[in-house]
Amino acid sequence: MIRDNSPVLTDEEARAALEKCIEQVRRNLGEFTTSSQNHSSVNNFYPQCKNDQWTTGFWPGEIWLAYEYTKDEAFKNAALEHVKSMNYRIENKISVDHHDMGFLYSPSCVAAWKLIKSDMGRSAAIKAADQLISRFQTKGNFIQAWGALGEKDNYRYIVDCLLNTPLLYWASRETGDKKYAEIARLHTQTCMKNSIRADGSTFHTFFMDCETGAPLYGRTCQGYADDSVWARGQSWGVYGSSLAYRYDRNEEYLKAFHRTADFYLSRLPEDNVPYWDMIFNDDNAVHDGETEPRDSSSDCIVACGLLDMASQTGDKELERKARVLLKALVDKYAVKDFSKSNGLLLHGTYSKKSPYNTCTPEGVDECTSWGDYFYMEALTRIVNPAWELYW
Ligand code: GLY
Repeated sequence: MIRDNSPVLTDEEARAALEKCIEQVRRNLGEFTTSSQNHSSVNNFYPQCKNDQWTTGFWPGEIWLAYEYTKDEAFKNAALEHVKSMNYRIENKISVDHHDMGFLYSPSCVAAWKLIKSDMGRSAAIKAADQLISRFQTKGNFIQAWGALGEKDNYRYIVDCLLNTPLLYWASRETGDKKYAEIARLHTQTCMKNSIRADGSTFHTFFMDCETGAPLYGRTCQGYADDSVWARGQSWGVYGSSLAYRYDRNEEYLKAFHRTADFYLSRLPEDNVPYWDMIFNDDNAVHDGETEPRDSSSDCIVACGLLDMASQTGDKELERKARVLLKALVDKYAVKDFSKSNGLLLHGTYSKKSPYNTCTPEGVDECTSWGDYFYMEALTRIVNPAWELYW
């Protein structure tokens, strides 16, 4: 619960925490330069994996953040190995039949272009943007998340996609072709209209009518139930609204940002790190929240969103709240002893099975690749307020 006198992360603490992350990233280069990092850890250690998951852009993003801070060529060279792998993946269309092109290509390849003008990074990211817009549905104006295109049972989008659409705004700026940004805009408007409930909470996925394009209903996949609030979905809503506002300056997105952020911050337990679903901290709920795992990654994503909006509007209160979240993470959730984990942040939750959801259980109470990335991004934003984002 964020209070007026909640402890905040100082600049010195942020710098020390970021340097600790960089030390861990450096230790991991041997294992994860020619191999990708699994979406989540197993007993707090990430295994290697092939570059075929939706999450394999985050580890290269961590390496780029380490490179930006240190300017050490070892990081640049390792990150470029991943750019090659990401380029191979999109050229050969390996596991890219879904919407997660932004998660994959912004922190790896857009970053490579922005930081060192990697032509391969640029062209791979533009190919990924083309792949993403191939999933746009004109009946309903949305980017279909998963599954065969146009199929009734798959005719839906998910709130997470607000982190994929920035790739499209970037592609339009980069190529001068407005079609990417136009699709991002149409998708975002559909999402803002349907996915945010009256109280500022969000639906995870939203079905549309494949005949008429009319909005149908929200359903969860990774949350506890259709009418609960999956913590990470809410966090994608917060950061995604800030990014949408950054690229489109639509006042509705600014309102969406405040509504989703206020809801998120109102559902935090005493130590400010959410349970994996926010139903477990609803006073009216019957569930015993104390026994449920946390999702620390949600706090990292929200901290990035708060800092991103603060950098756009100069709102110091948003920055204070981000520092409160980060203080909790740095003090109680960050990996301190590298012999116990090869990750950066403990107690994330990828997908927890409930009686009412449809997910495959994975990565419960573990490090998560995106949690680690957004943890580093949030710390970088504090240490270097002029940081140019990869999104
Ligand atoms: N975008 C999928 C997840 O957050 O788990």
